Amino acid sequence: MAGFAELGLSSWLVEQCRQLGLKQPTPVQLGCVPAILEGRDCLGCAKTGSGKTAAFVLPILQKLSEDPYGVFCLVLTPTRELAYQIAEQFRVLGRPLGLKDCIVVGGMDMVAQALELSRKPHVVIATPGRLADHLRSSSTFSLKKIRFLVLDEADRLLEQGCTDFTADLEAILGAVPARRQTLLFSATLTDTLRELQGLATNRPFFWEAQAPARTVEQLDQRYVLVPERVKDAYLVHLLQRFQDAHEDWAVVVFTSTCKTCQVLCMMLRKLGFPAVALHSMMKQKERFAALAKFKSSIYRILIATDVASRGLDIPTVQLVINHNTPGLPKIYIHRVGRTARAGRQGQAVTLVTQYDIHLVHAIEEQIGKRLEDLQVEEAEVLEILTQVNVVRRECEIKLEAAHFGEKKEVNKRKQLILEGKDPDLEAKRKAELAKIRRKNQRFKEHVQQTLGHRGPPKPPPRAEGEGEA
Ligand SMILES: Nc1ncnc2c1ncn2[C@@H]1O[C@H](COP(=O)(O)OP(=O)(O)OP(=O)(O)O)[C@@H](O)[C@H]1O
Ligand SMILES: [Mg+2]
Repeated sequence: MAGFAELGLSSWLVEQCRQLGLKQPTPVQLGCVPAILEGRDCLGCAKTGSGKTAAFVLPILQKLSEDPYGVFCLVLTPTRELAYQIAEQFRVLGRPLGLKDCIVVGGMDMVAQALELSRKPHVVIATPGRLADHLRSSSTFSLKKIRFLVLDEADRLLEQGCTDFTADLEAILGAVPARRQTLLFSATLTDTLRELQGLATNRPFFWEAQAPARTVEQLDQRYVLVPERVKDAYLVHLLQRFQDAHEDWAVVVFTSTCKTCQVLCMMLRKLGFPAVALHSMMKQKERFAALAKFKSSIYRILIATDVASRGLDIPTVQLVINHNTPGLPKIYIHRVGRTARAGRQGQAVTLVTQYDIHLVHAIEEQIGKRLEDLQVEEAEVLEILTQVNVVRRECEIKLEAAHFGEKKEVNKRKQLILEGKDPDLEAKRKAELAKIRRKNQRFKEHVQQTLGHRGPPKPPPRAEGEGEA
């Protein structure tokens, strides 16, 4: 198998890889590094934890060392924590170059960022919203000469999810040169392939891992069918069981909303678990602190919304619990990908209510694998049920008294007024839409309950192997 030197990288970069403990390139690195060094655009689709970051960082550093200037490269990523993580990889691997990087994300001091940008860093790592704000408000820096544009988690940046990046992306794409190399990476590129191909037109090289499943083999994937009202008791039971069985342990629990995330964290702490929350309604400094404490094992449980579902690389995580079944298979793929990284073992457990069974079917179809039923001692769960539910209710009351969520509402109203919309009218429209959605959902569930039995999952449609886009 080829080493890093055979990929066309200079000896100083090969030495950096060795020092970092990277012995052999992973398949995505083997495929993409030579193509990027050749000057081609690249679309890299490889499983979670397979080393996509180094697949773009290494060739960019190689090219930067041949012709160093700032701003040489712009990396866009959907979340702030991920921006810091990518910057760290650039810093570690690019140390011999004296690499100057600049992180431009929301929630941090904008003036300090503007100053750093004006000093022409080699690499800018940014979330789209804040970078677009800088482009609109200042002329102290230019992206007109960048050689590389990277979109990590590219499909997320292009899709219109709960955070819609499209307007900000448009502003950024208008500020970068047309003649550039564009590198797009994600574990789930295929859904937005058409849009992505529009961005990467310079002899694009498409790389996709050849494998029967979309999740890694080392991941043990389970589900537990639970009634909604005993979900929290199951969560507590699973955590207790895991804690009892392991000396050194780390678990990520994913939840659907910031409020649930906060309530569950309070509840688990009250029940004596070392839990910490991470969601978008926390101040940025609190978010960083929470993640740092989880990474250094001060807290063993990270309760997070999907703000933590993509890209985060915390090798110690052995278990991912989905407190809610993800509504989209690709969200599931990224969430469970927070464990079993870089060849390690890991387990994922999804709590499924009777209303979520169709979601599990969709996940199984996408990942090309059946989730196994996890055996749980129901009697043990029932024993703690009342206590858990009482504590949860107490925490909910406490949170409501603290007016959790009100600030977000005020900000939302302000934003709507700035956009020339009537907040009350918008709220009414939204409520009507939600009503229609609920009605459709009930109808869908009714049809599924009448017709459906769990059938074997179909293999997912795949365009296998490496090749041209
Ligand atoms: N060649 C290699 N050999 C061993 N470990 C590696 C190699 N390349 C990267 N790694 C390690 O693998 C881990 C995962 O890498 P990375 O975060 O780049 O994954 P990813 O493919 O971007 O995953 P995700 O889809 O979740 O973002 C990191 O800890 C990284 O240091
Ligand atoms: Mg990544």
